[in-house]
Amino acid sequence: MQIIERISDLQDALRGETSIGFVPTMGYLHEGHESLLERARAENDIVVLSIFVNPTQFGPNEDLDRYPRDAERDQAIARSAGVDYLFFPTTETMYPYDMARVSVRTGDDVLCGASRPGHFDGVLTVVSKLFNIVRPARAYFGLKDAQQLALIEGYVRDYFVPVEIVRCPIIREEDGLAKSSRNVYLTETERREAPLIQQALLHANGMFASGKGVLEVVEETRGRLARIAGTTIDYVEAVDYPSLKAVSEDTKTILLAVAVHFSGARLIDNLLYTRGA
Ligand code: PAF
Repeated sequence: MQIIERISDLQDALRGETSIGFVPTMGYLHEGHESLLERARAENDIVVLSIFVNPTQFGPNEDLDRYPRDAERDQAIARSAGVDYLFFPTTETMYPYDMARVSVRTGDDVLCGASRPGHFDGVLTVVSKLFNIVRPARAYFGLKDAQQLALIEGYVRDYFVPVEIVRCPIIREEDGLAKSSRNVYLTETERREAPLIQQALLHANGMFASGKGVLEVVEETRGRLARIAGTTIDYVEAVDYPSLKAVSEDTKTILLAVAVHFSGARLIDNLLYTRGA
C-alpha cells in the first residue's frame, strides 16, 4: 500500500487505471469502513481510500478539533483490507483557494441538514473534489449516513459525474449500536444505554409492518428515545427515500432517521422501510 499526500502523485499512480473503487472517509476506521473496503476490493482492480477530516462540513461549535484521529491504526487497517493507495491530503491541498463550493438545492432542510446548517454543502464540496482527483468507477458509502448518501447520489445525477455510487448496509456492534467513529465519545453508562436507539428503530419497523401510520410511528419512536437516560433528542423524522421529501401515498421507501445527543456525542441511526416488500 502506498500512502500519498499530493494530488499529482496520486493521479500519476492512477493514470490508465479504469477499475478504481473509492472509499472516502474521515479516518478513525472501524468495521463499517472495513466493510466498504471489502466490497471495493471485491469489485475493482484498484482500491483507493482517502482519509481527510474535512473542515467545511463541521459547524463552528462542532467537534472538528477533537474529531478522533489515529493515523497508525488506520494505516494498519487499510493495509490488511487490501487498499492499494491511501490518499492522506492536508487541508491546504484540498482547499488551496476555497473560491468555490458545491451547494445542496433540496434535501438539506430536513434531518441532519436542518440541525447542521451548511454541513452537506461541505460534504458535497469535498466529495466532488475527491471524485475529480480519484476519478473512480465506483464509490462506496454506508447507509448509516442515509441523507448524505441520497444527496451524493443526487449530486452525481445532477452533475453527470461518471461514477457508480454503491450503497452499503449499516454495520452494527453485537448489541445493535451502529458503528461510528464518534462512539468513542460515549461514557461507559451511555455506551450501555446506546443500543436502545436501534431497539426503538426495530420497534418502529414492526409498527410500519403492522400498518401503523407515519405520524404514530414517529411519535412512538420519539417516546422510546426520550426514555434513554441523560440524552436529548435532536430529531426523529420520517421522509421519502431517496428524495428526502415528505412521505406521501406514492412513497415506496420510508427513511425513519434519528439523532440523539449524549453528553459528548451526537449519534445518528436510521431504518429504511419499504412498503409492501
Ligand atoms: O461520511 C464521511 O466520512 C464524510 O462525510 C465523507 C463522505 C468522507 C466526506 O468528508
